Amino acid sequence: MIRGKDGSIIPKVVIERLPRYYRYFNWLEDRVEKISSKKLGEYLGASASQIRLDLSYFGDFGQQGYGYNIKKLKQELANILKMNAETSFIIVGAGNIGHALIRFNAFQMAGFKLEAIFDVKPELCGETINGVRVHHVDTLHSFIRENSIDIAIIAVPRDVANEIVKDLIDAGIRGILNFAPLDLDVPEGFPVENIHIIDKMLALSFIVNSENGKPPKNGRPFKK
Ligand code: NAI
Repeated sequence: MIRGKDGSIIPKVVIERLPRYYRYFNWLEDRVEKISSKKLGEYLGASASQIRLDLSYFGDFGQQGYGYNIKKLKQELANILKMNAETSFIIVGAGNIGHALIRFNAFQMAGFKLEAIFDVKPELCGETINGVRVHHVDTLHSFIRENSIDIAIIAVPRDVANEIVKDLIDAGIRGILNFAPLDLDVPEGFPVENIHIIDKMLALSFIVNSENGKPPKNGRPFKK
């Protein structure tokens, strides 16, 4: 449970909206100096009151009659999202997904530091991919403890994922991003984010194949 400046509980949906707000501020920064919450709402497809309420959990950023200073707000959001804190992470599984993630340089720009990757295949261990060393999974526990790693990404086959998760949690990992196609077995309240592309594709396919999901000729099928 995360609490805001005034002590109220911050709903998870609010936390999930913040990275998108940051992305827009980043884009807007070179275009405008200040913006009203109404205009911001138009860009983001949200109401002005929702944006004001979301931001109010973290402080008082807008000015009556002036709106928001984009540069300042972007900086505030970067601080809120701990983008300058260098959050450490590891990847478990150096297969297709693991390799693609190691080569994804945006992690660094968002304030994340990839410390190591782990795999069970002896032939991969000791290799360096994009400057990151592959270690044997047997050393996972001690590596996390010794290096105080914050987050782990799971990119191993489904049947071994929960075994890895147990080791990760025992070693003190504080959050997991999961690519394996199952619901991980974690203690209640433990932070897990799942990425399941097929789930998204199936939901999309349901919408595009439904009669009332067909987009109108000149517009959007649903409100943004
Ligand atoms: P992959 O087979 O290319 O890579 C898996 C890697 O995990 C291999 O290098 C293997 O040696 C390693 N591994 C196996 N057991 C291990 C263990 N006990 N400890 C450490 N490493 C171990 O598979 P790929 O394509 O990279 O997929 C990884 C996972 O992501 C799978 O569970 C797959 O189903 C899932 N996936 C998820 C997607 C999504 O949308 N979330 C999309 C594609 C794959």
